[in-house]
Amino acid sequence: MSSQNAIGVFDSGLGGLSAVKEFIRALPNEKIIYFGDTGRVPYGTRSRDTIKKYALQDARFLLRHNVKMIVAACGTVSSVAGDLLEESLPVPYTGVVNPTAYTAVRKTRNGKIGVIGTAATVGSHSYKLRLQKLDAGVEVFEKACPLFVPLVENGIIHRDDQITRLVVRRYMSELKDSGVDTVILGCTHFPLLREAISDFMGDGVELVDSGFETAGYAAKVLREQGLLNSDTTPKTPEFFVSDTPEGFENVAGLFLGRDMEHTVTQIDIEQY
Ligand code: DGL
Repeated sequence: MSSQNAIGVFDSGLGGLSAVKEFIRALPNEKIIYFGDTGRVPYGTRSRDTIKKYALQDARFLLRHNVKMIVAACGTVSSVAGDLLEESLPVPYTGVVNPTAYTAVRKTRNGKIGVIGTAATVGSHSYKLRLQKLDAGVEVFEKACPLFVPLVENGIIHRDDQITRLVVRRYMSELKDSGVDTVILGCTHFPLLREAISDFMGDGVELVDSGFETAGYAAKVLREQGLLNSDTTPKTPEFFVSDTPEGFENVAGLFLGRDMEHTVTQIDIEQY
């Protein structure tokens, strides 16, 4: 395996681009190949078997590009299919759950941690199990926030938007009342709602971004395995989607935080 090979990143849709933004920042020498399963999003409301099947197809597609590492930039896939991917992939794999849980346990001061994610993520209790394995003393409060995903996909994310504020209040009130001082944004769509969530939860509550933590962890794994790319020539990310690229172009800048040179190609994921 060459250190010049790309890192493969995938998500059920466009949410994983919030993680790609962090990867490009943390690992500027790396080429990123991203697959967003825009034709089959959301995963968060599907059965465990379906999520596993989709995750394996997504990973197989990335392996065709000789990637040196695979990242599931999706809380749902990491929660439901993480063990399966770890066992079956021939290259290093990471999801978002482990690196994010590790940071949350270090950050909490009162031992009360909130976890928000899709219904599948929260139903799997993946974060809770991991957090309590790292520190049996922490109390974990979980809340599924399924409406956050379509809000983000439709760009209804501004901290002053009435709809955004209402949905945030609806989902986050219980967590606020429970006195958590740390909240894991356990879905890669949710960093786009960071400001609105933070306004509601208050300054004393730390929000932990799974994409940011995972980029830092991936850098550590690549360094340890001697797979960091030392070639500093600028790399153009390649994006692949399973539905028309038009929608991608409209919202990609929102997730990536800026416009950047890239290519977008539609593929048939059912072939993999
Ligand atoms: N980005 C996905 C996650 O992190 C959420 C979207 C979905 O339900 O597929 O869980």
